[in-house]
Amino acid sequence: MLLDARELKKVLLNLAVNGLEAMPDGGSLPVRSSPADRGGVEVLVEDTGCGMDEETRSRMFELFFTTKPTGTGLGMAIACSVVDRHRGRIEIDSAPGTGTRVRVELPSSAPNVS
Ligand SMILES: Nc1ncnc2c1ncn2[C@@H]1O[C@H](COP(=O)(O)OP(=O)(O)O)[C@@H](O)[C@H]1O
Ligand SMILES: [Mg+2]
Repeated sequence: MLLDARELKKVLLNLAVNGLEAMPDGGSLPVRSSPADRGGVEVLVEDTGCGMDEETRSRMFELFFTTKPTGTGLGMAIACSVVDRHRGRIEIDSAPGTGTRVRVELPSSAPNVS
């Protein structure tokens, strides 16, 4: 199996939900994909929301870490483990008050992830 579509759908959904939750007063949430090096693919999910300070940025992948009153802190931990299993990577660019850009890079082939 090259990619686990159901798992990757979960990743993108989590990123999109986070983007929306970062923009309670609205904004834009472009999602783009393009070919990456060596036959891989890169997906960008950007928001114009609240962004993150250094501490939040450094802890966002921790299981159960959340800054939201009713958050679970599961989304990014799950996203990270799915992308890891695909031998991909996630990069975050974020600035408080400006927004966040998440870049997911997936290689053209991954070990069997089922
Ligand atoms: N797009 C984003 N903009 C601002 N903060 C974000 C974004 N994505 C993640 N975060 C931060 O990372 C934390 C963890 O995210 P996540 O694991 O999805 O848990 P939850 O959404 O339940 O809080 C969030 O509580 C938030 O502080
Ligand atoms: Mg979330």
